[in-house]
Amino acid sequence: MSSSTEIAAIILAAGQGTRMQSSLPKVLHPLAGRSMLGHVLGLSEAIAVARRVVVVGPNMPIVSGAARSHAPDARIALQENQLGTADAVKAAAGEMAGFDGDALILYADTPLVRAETVRAMLSARRSGASVVVLGFRPVDPSPYGRLVMNAADGLDAIIESKDCTAEQRAIGLCNSGVMAVDGAVLFSLLEEVGNNNAKGEYYLTDIIAIARKRGLSCAAIEADADEVLGVNSRVELAQAEAILQNRLRHAAMLNGATLLDPSTVYFSYDTKLGRDVVVGQNVVFGPGVSVADGVQIKPFSHLEGAIVAAGAEIGPYGRLRPGADVGKGARIGNFVEVKAARIEDGAKVSHLSYIGDARVGAGANIGAGTITCNYDGFEKHFTDIGAGAFIGSNTCLVAPVKIGDGAFTGSGSVITQDVSPDALALVRPQQVEKAGWAARFRARFSGKKSGHG
Ligand code: UD1
Ligand code: CA
Repeated sequence: MSSSTEIAAIILAAGQGTRMQSSLPKVLHPLAGRSMLGHVLGLSEAIAVARRVVVVGPNMPIVSGAARSHAPDARIALQENQLGTADAVKAAAGEMAGFDGDALILYADTPLVRAETVRAMLSARRSGASVVVLGFRPVDPSPYGRLVMNAADGLDAIIESKDCTAEQRAIGLCNSGVMAVDGAVLFSLLEEVGNNNAKGEYYLTDIIAIARKRGLSCAAIEADADEVLGVNSRVELAQAEAILQNRLRHAAMLNGATLLDPSTVYFSYDTKLGRDVVVGQNVVFGPGVSVADGVQIKPFSHLEGAIVAAGAEIGPYGRLRPGADVGKGARIGNFVEVKAARIEDGAKVSHLSYIGDARVGAGANIGAGTITCNYDGFEKHFTDIGAGAFIGSNTCLVAPVKIGDGAFTGSGSVITQDVSPDALALVRPQQVEKAGWAARFRARFSGKKSGHG
């Protein structure tokens, strides 16, 4: 029996994932804005593991790199040849040295397992079972290992599909792959696993029968099939995305956001919505969005890497890119794109504008069609718009440039120099009027084809 109550996660990620038909390793394919491996590492964080080991195959530096960038403490173990799941866990032995708590075995391609399910497994593990397996009842059990339960509701064995007798094949309860194992016995159980089976592989699932032979007890906990969906192809990736999106929608609504048509709102794993936020139809959240209370996000808006303060209004067709920071009660209207810019409290950018690398001061009004010309082809430059400024429609602000508090710019101006507070800057030719010109013009063509249109 393990002497410590600490938990270590061993995350299997050495499989090739050939059915993805991708140059990207399978476990790096994203769901709701984060890789499957990232989701599983996130699960290990949620249950506060003391150690985590990611088992990778050879030539997978990109997987190890992704694991380390997500979790700098993650240890990487190399499985030289893919000889089966028992061999994969064995490959973690070196990185598990000195650990005597409970070992949690997770698959990086099974990204939807919830922390509360794992907690239930760990508590069953602590109440005496040496191995606790997460089972499920798939519609079609044929590809999975079957859980052979005994009369006392304990688990006696897992039999892989290809090795099942006809009777065992009829069992509906299957192995998801997720296990919690007493760390004190895990590696000695693995020592006894052989490969005399239909696939000639070292099956992790064999540790159940081996433990039972030693008189140890094993148990199973059941999860919903959705939660343990394994992703092997892009079809399953899309299924997993749909399951996760539904979970995120539910959570947002239970936290006090109104989703006018939930199935058309797409979240990132880390989207934060306050209370009384109203999200219209067809809104997409990329990673890193935080929205405060009472914000309205109108249909067809797209937000990523953005902060939106209380009471602000975004869209319809608003586009907030990374670094957009929208203040209280500010308004970002239709076809407005904001990037790396702070829109201070109460400022309005209502129509057809691009605000990038800028500050828009409190209460400023940005006219339709205003563009911050932030890029000269080599570098990005900053536009600073003071509080209460009024930028006329179709103004080009050629950065770097500063508009003082309360200043005006005339419509159509191309502003290249700083404007003093409370001044009007006007950059456009004087209007010329030629009296009667239009009438003379028409007369010249009278008798020919009509002049309209
Ligand atoms: C495994 C289980 C099966 C279960 C099913 C659930 C075994 C023997 N069988 O079967 O009972 O119903 O998962 O999906 O455990 N991996 C490695 N190295 C290896 C082999 C696998 O890292 O040498 C990783 C894979 O990347 C994958 C996971 O382990 O994430 C499962 O491997 P896979 O070959 O898909 O196992 P199954 O045959 O599906
Ligand atoms: Ca599999």
